[in-house]
Amino acid sequence: MLETLTLREGYFEDPNAFRALADLLQDVFGIDIGLQGRFGGPDPSSMPFGYFDGTGRCVANFSVFSMPLVINGRVVKAAGFQSGAVRPAFRGQGIYRDLMQRAFAWADKQGFEAGVLLTDKPELYHDYSFRVVPQFSVCGEVTQTVPAEAEAREIDLEDMDDVALVLSILADREPVSRQLSVVRQSEMFLLNAALDPEIRLSDLPGFDAILAWKLHGGTLQMLDIAARQIPSMSEIRSALSVQHDRIEVFFPTDRLEWSGNARVYDGSCALMVRGLQPSDIPTPSMLSPMADF
Ligand SMILES: CC(C)(COP(=O)(O)OP(=O)(O)OC[C@H]1O[C@@H](n2cnc3c(N)ncnc32)[C@H](O)[C@@H]1OP(=O)(O)O)[C@@H](O)C(=O)NCCC(=O)NCCS
Repeated sequence: MLETLTLREGYFEDPNAFRALADLLQDVFGIDIGLQGRFGGPDPSSMPFGYFDGTGRCVANFSVFSMPLVINGRVVKAAGFQSGAVRPAFRGQGIYRDLMQRAFAWADKQGFEAGVLLTDKPELYHDYSFRVVPQFSVCGEVTQTVPAEAEAREIDLEDMDDVALVLSILADREPVSRQLSVVRQSEMFLLNAALDPEIRLSDLPGFDAILAWKLHGGTLQMLDIAARQIPSMSEIRSALSVQHDRIEVFFPTDRLEWSGNARVYDGSCALMVRGLQPSDIPTPSMLSPMADF
């Protein structure tokens, strides 16, 4: 099977090949990565490995990108692995194994000290030394009410001035946590916001900060904060001015001057790492859903 296909590496310069990958991911996962075109395009550090058929259709892919992380106060040069998919007619023939081996070997050669991925099939990656990291959100009841008048402005990703504002803050952000967070990652933050209509982005006045959040029943779910300096929980709550009686934070809360109760995060995908032990990551931690990839 592989003999009839063409392997292409680092092909994002070719718009037709990128479109073919977007079609593959749309067909397999139902997501449109083409939306990234509005936000400055794909991560320039991406190194995709793909197989294409004679008509230019992408039948399989696995990509690597640079994803520096802050882990326990230290910057770790990590590679993220994403966009792993094989079209149904081509499965069960070792194509994904071939792509995984190429991608992991390439990342090792580049000198990445760790690898990170999110998957609903952890067993696929055990043989390549990936281990699951338990993830936890942090929950708390709130007693203090917030001021009634709304101050925060909702960001509209259809508005290019708003997109530029978010990009400028993301480019210069302080990592949201010292325990576990991305150092700087714009592409996935914006794509995740665009893909999930329940995610709201609010510009917190006076803080040069963008809060990504959802409201579920009476629970304010905080997904991420992009800011040059992370505001405290009480500053965020007063600036957002949304009534709620519970908080759930989906990233470690060490910078928020607030603490709550850890709760096992039961997301659809497991976080896996290689090159470091799950125990190297302080507990409770989770990688912000805005960094999902
Ligand atoms: C998962 C997927 C990429 C596998 O592609 P594939 O080309 O059929 O896989 P391969 O034939 O190369 O198999 C590679 C290995 O994975 C194992 N494997 C294949 N499909 C698997 C699955 N669904 N669950 C667990 N293991 C699987 C194979 O047994 C094989 O193991 P081995 O190397 O020990 O023999 C493909 O089924 C797919 O695109 N699924 C939908 C999207 C998806 O789940 N992507 C991965 C998300 S992180």
